Order: sequence, then C-alpha cells, then structure tokens
Amino acid sequence: MRGLAAGNWKMNGTAETLSEIRALLGAHPSPTCDMLICPPATLLARAADAAKGSALKIGGQDCHAAASGAHTGDISAAMLVDAGASHVILGHSERRADHAESDAIVAAKVTAAQSAGLITIVCVGETEAERDGGRTLDIIATQIDGSLPKGTDAGRLVIAYEPVWAIGTGRTPTLDEIASVHAALRTQLATRFGTDQIPLLYGGSVKPSNAEEIFALPEVNGALVGGASLKAADFAAIVSALSAA
Ligand code: PGA
Repeated sequence: MRGLAAGNWKMNGTAETLSEIRALLGAHPSPTCDMLICPPATLLARAADAAKGSALKIGGQDCHAAASGAHTGDISAAMLVDAGASHVILGHSERRADHAESDAIVAAKVTAAQSAGLITIVCVGETEAERDGGRTLDIIATQIDGSLPKGTDAGRLVIAYEPVWAIGTGRTPTLDEIASVHAALRTQLATRFGTDQIPLLYGGSVKPSNAEEIFALPEVNGALVGGASLKAADFAAIVSALSAA
C-alpha cells in the first residue's frame, strides 16, 4: 500500500513557519508516498493555500465530536474541511493526557470526522509503566477496540502506534518491539474490518537517522512525526526514506 509521512506540528508555528511547507514542496514536488502536514488550527487555511495544487495534504490535530454549538475554543470536523483539511489526528496521547480524552470520546470524534469526509488518524500507545509491566499489547488492543466506533469506515482510517514514552524524548522502542505491536495491530484490524489495507504508522522520535530502519519493518506503512516535521529538510529526508522503502 502507499505509505504516509505525516507531520504533526503540535502547538508550534506562525505565519513564517509556512516557509517550511514551501521548502518541503521544493524538495518533494511529487513523492511516491503520501505527504501530510497537520499545522496548528490558526495556520490550517494558509497551509492549505500554500499546498494547493501540490501533492501535500493538510490535516487538523483534533476536532470536536459535535457538528456545532456552544463549545468555546473548539473546532468541528466540518470546519477543518472548510479550512482545507483532508485528514485529522484523533486521540493523540497529548490530547488524552492534557484534555482527559477517553477512548469513548475519541470514538465519538472518529464518527464525526468520518461523517464530515475526513480521513482519521487514530493514535494509540502505551505508557512506560505499561510497557514495563508487560501490558503493551493488551493496552493497545483495548484502545483500538474503544477508540474505533461501530460503523468506522476502514477506508478512511489510519492508525498511528505512538508509545507515550517515545514521544519527544529521542527514545524509541527496539525494532522488534515496533514490529510486534504492528503485527498485533494488523491482526486485530484485519479480524474486525476484513482488510489488511489500513495504513499503520509508527510515531515517537522518528528522525532522518532512524526512518529507514523503521520503514523497513513489516506492517509499518509510514510515520507520524512531531519534532522532525518542523524543519523541512528533516521531514523531506523522512519522506525520501519512506519513498525508497
Ligand atoms: P515526536 O512526536 O516525533 O516529536 O516524538 C511524535 C508525535 O507526537 O506524533
């Protein structure tokens, strides 16, 4: 299947950061994998404008489960689409931790986002204590179960495996550990949805120096990249590694 290199800018970036998008497009006018940048909401429309007519897709970092209403500070899925987004990240561990998002809340957001026409990148991952306790596969299976609602459209679904302890730390699981989680995800998703075509991304301290070995693993179809997506040169190198995989 076609790979996906997705960048998550998190709460970083102002107008001048859009130059990174222009530099990325200069480096990769027509990559052989899909390329996505999820800027902060304030930059969505401008990023979509900068990416217009190019291979780069633009996504949101979260959306509300409701279509509209009295939810100060929140953004609906339709608003993301209106701003030019084709994708949305849901259930990132920073949302789960900072905003107490449960699997049930994530599931409601998946329904809303898919109904609005977005491709949903649903994040799962264990904490360090859960890994040390030997509970990684159980935790991830439970998160997948609870975060994907009944009626999930597998054709609009991407899963990102992001160990919480590997995000922004420079630490990564061993290649065997990544491969074992991805194999379990593939089996669980194939059993539930009857397809092995749901892209599985790895996320957590992906950078140019480790991208190639991670993309060589079976059942790894791309990456969700935080820090290294903020610099066009680094993200372009990750896109190159995925294109070559
Ligand atoms: P990182 O973040 O690449 O900075 O570790 C990954 C993520 O949170 O998606």
